[in-house]
Amino acid sequence: MDKQANEEILTLGIESSCDETSAAVLRGGREILADVISTQIPVHQRFGGVVPEIASRKHIVNIMPVVDEALRVAGVKLQDIGQVAVTYGPGLVGALLVGVSAAKALAFSLDVPLIGVNHLEGHIFANFLADKALEPPFMALVVSGGHTSLVDVRGYNEFRLLGQTRDDAAGEAFDKIARVMGLPYPGGPRIDALAKEGDPLAIDFPRALDEKGNYEFSFSGLKSAVLNYINSEKMKGRELRHADIAASFQHAVIEVLVHKACEAAAEAGRDTLVLAGGVAANSGLEARLRREAAARGLRFMFPSPVLCTDNAAMIACRGYYQGAAGKFSDLCLNAVPGLGLTDSSLAH
Ligand code: KG4
Ligand code: ZN
Repeated sequence: MDKQANEEILTLGIESSCDETSAAVLRGGREILADVISTQIPVHQRFGGVVPEIASRKHIVNIMPVVDEALRVAGVKLQDIGQVAVTYGPGLVGALLVGVSAAKALAFSLDVPLIGVNHLEGHIFANFLADKALEPPFMALVVSGGHTSLVDVRGYNEFRLLGQTRDDAAGEAFDKIARVMGLPYPGGPRIDALAKEGDPLAIDFPRALDEKGNYEFSFSGLKSAVLNYINSEKMKGRELRHADIAASFQHAVIEVLVHKACEAAAEAGRDTLVLAGGVAANSGLEARLRREAAARGLRFMFPSPVLCTDNAAMIACRGYYQGAAGKFSDLCLNAVPGLGLTDSSLAH
């Protein structure tokens, strides 16, 4: 059987861009046979953030056991794999290199194609796994630890970047504020939980770049405003109302994200809006976007939490659609830590 030219092809996906070592097996473009994730969060927690050198070392230890486990869960043999898709950027260079090296070795030894995947495109493609009927075109709001972008997905291999953050990513702001509040890494889920007990209108934090037609984001001013507020309350000897700070900060972030995403979908004439990236797991963001999208007659969807945060199934899915379009990488594929999302970014 030709392992490459069929819709039932088995894609092995590999992800190691940050603090998750993950391997997945996908049948065709959308059927997950296995999605194994080994998280390093407990290892990095005591340092308050990801330590790159430790992350690389942990990936080296974990990568092959995670691949073996994915094959075992999927009930397939290595020889059944038809192509290997791997994240080559953006991310931590040492961490990325572990996945890229493993993927190259596997593709070479199995004599199957290698597909380098942009991690951010992978996040968008998690939505194809969440809804098997989803087809482009649609508008995607990508909110992760390192990126905040609005992407018009016109086809499986055709994207238009409408705007991105000029400074901090949304997730980065969540993590930094959580750290100052003494909450453990990663801060996003902690702020999310705390915000449920607070008043989102208690403190009026600033919103940046909110003029119509501007799809860029900026979260550094908001981050500074929250840090200044915390410092000034401390100096006045007042007890910090953690839940109100979390709720008001989260509300400011959500308002900007939701407003711009809905405006962008309307301007591009899209009837579907999807959410992608780790911050998509935020319950406040999901609830607000769902309400706002419904009010504007937009279809809204987002992946389950496990598909929102880093995982190899989304990388395999993106890789499948690149492979279907004949976009393969050669064995010179290298890690590109600063890889961004650009128009139709199939830069390999
Ligand atoms: O996409 P992701 O897993 O990794 C990157 O590619 O960056 O995103 C991780 C980010 C972290 O900043 C984390 O704090 C944030 O996603 N995050 C959340 C939530 N869950 C994860 N932020 C807000 N609310 C959440 N529930
Ligand atoms: Zn990610």
